Amino acid sequence: MKKFLSSAEQGQDAQLIDRFGRQLNYLRVSVTDKCDLRCSYCMPKGFNGFEEPENWLSFAEIERVVAAFGRMGVGRVRLTGGEPLLRRNLPQLVQSLASHPEIRDISLSTNATQLHKHADALYQAGVSRINVSLDSLDKACMENITGRDSFASIMAGLQAGKRAGFKPIKLNMVVMGGVNEHEVKRMAEFCFNEGFILRLIEAMPMGSTGQNSQYRDIGPIRDELVKQFDLVPVAEELGGGPARYWSSRDGQGTIGFISPISQHFCATCNRVRLAVDGTLYMCLGQDEKFELRPLLRAGISDQELEQAIREAIELKPERHEFTTQKHKIIRFMSQTGG
Ligand code: 5AD
Ligand code: SF4
Repeated sequence: MKKFLSSAEQGQDAQLIDRFGRQLNYLRVSVTDKCDLRCSYCMPKGFNGFEEPENWLSFAEIERVVAAFGRMGVGRVRLTGGEPLLRRNLPQLVQSLASHPEIRDISLSTNATQLHKHADALYQAGVSRINVSLDSLDKACMENITGRDSFASIMAGLQAGKRAGFKPIKLNMVVMGGVNEHEVKRMAEFCFNEGFILRLIEAMPMGSTGQNSQYRDIGPIRDELVKQFDLVPVAEELGGGPARYWSSRDGQGTIGFISPISQHFCATCNRVRLAVDGTLYMCLGQDEKFELRPLLRAGISDQELEQAIREAIELKPERHEFTTQKHKIIRFMSQTGG
C-alpha cells in the first residue's frame, strides 16, 4: 500500500495549496441542510429534498474532518447550514472543535430566529463571532423574503447575541432590486447605532431561487453610501473573507461589500465547504466535489483522510461561472452550506 506521510512529517508542505496557488485556510461546515425560513434567494418554497439523518455526519465525524484540516493549516472554521441552530446540541460540537489548538477561530452563520435560546451556550463553548442574515428592517418585507413571520424573533436573537458577547456581529443583507434596495441607508444607520457591521451582498444565482432574485450591482450602492456616511476604505483585512470594508472616519461604523458577481474574488478564494452529508464542495458555483462520508465510514486512517482532502483540493476550480454561464443550475445555497 502507498505510504502516506502525516502532515506533521511533511512540515511546511502540510499546507493545503490548490492548483492555482491559493492557500486554503478556511473551512465552512454545514451542520444541517434544514432551515426554519425560506429566504427567496436560497430555498424554494415547499422545498423538501433534505438529506436523510443517517447521512448526516455525526459530531465525531465532523470533528475528525475539521481536525485533519487543522493539521493542514486550516485554523478557521465557520458553522453554517441551512440554519445551524436547528442541529441539536450544537454547543457540544463547538466545544469539541475548540479543544483542537490548531482551530483558533470558530464562527457561526445563523438566521438568529433561535439565537435567544442558544447565544450564551454557544459563546461559552467557543464561538467568538457570528454573522446574522437580515435583509430588511420592515416586518412585512422580512415576511415576504423569508416566507415566515420572523422579524421579532430575529431582533430578540440579535439582542441576545449582543448580551452574550459575540464580537463582532455582522449582519448580512442580500440586496435585491425592488425588494429591499431602498432600505440600505436605513440598515446602515441601524447597524451603526447597534454596533453591528453591515455587509451588503450581491445575490448569486444559486439554484433556481437565486436566479430569480433581482440581482443588483452593489458598486453604485457603495458609492452612494460612501457619500452619505463619508466612508473611507479600511486598510487592514477584517475577517479574512471576500468582503471589502469601508468605515466612517470616527471608526464607529463599518460596512462590508461582497460582490461575487460584479467583481468576483475567486483569485483569492481561501475556502472549501463541508456539507452535512460529508461532501466537500470546492466552489459555491461549480459542481466539483469529493465525498468523504464513505471513506470516514469505511474506517480510513487519519493519514488517508488527509490524503483524500489533498486529492479533493486538486479539484478546486479556478472560478465560478455565474456571469458566463447564467443558466447553469447549481445546488441551492442551503445544500452547499451558505
Ligand atoms: N446569493 C447571495 N447570498 C446568499 N446567501 C444565501 N443565498 C444566497 C444567494 N443566492 C447568504 C445569505 C446568508 C448567508 C448564509 O448566505 O445572506 O446570510
Ligand atoms: Fe435559511 Fe439562511 Fe437559506 Fe434564509 S439564507 S433560507 S435563513 S439557510
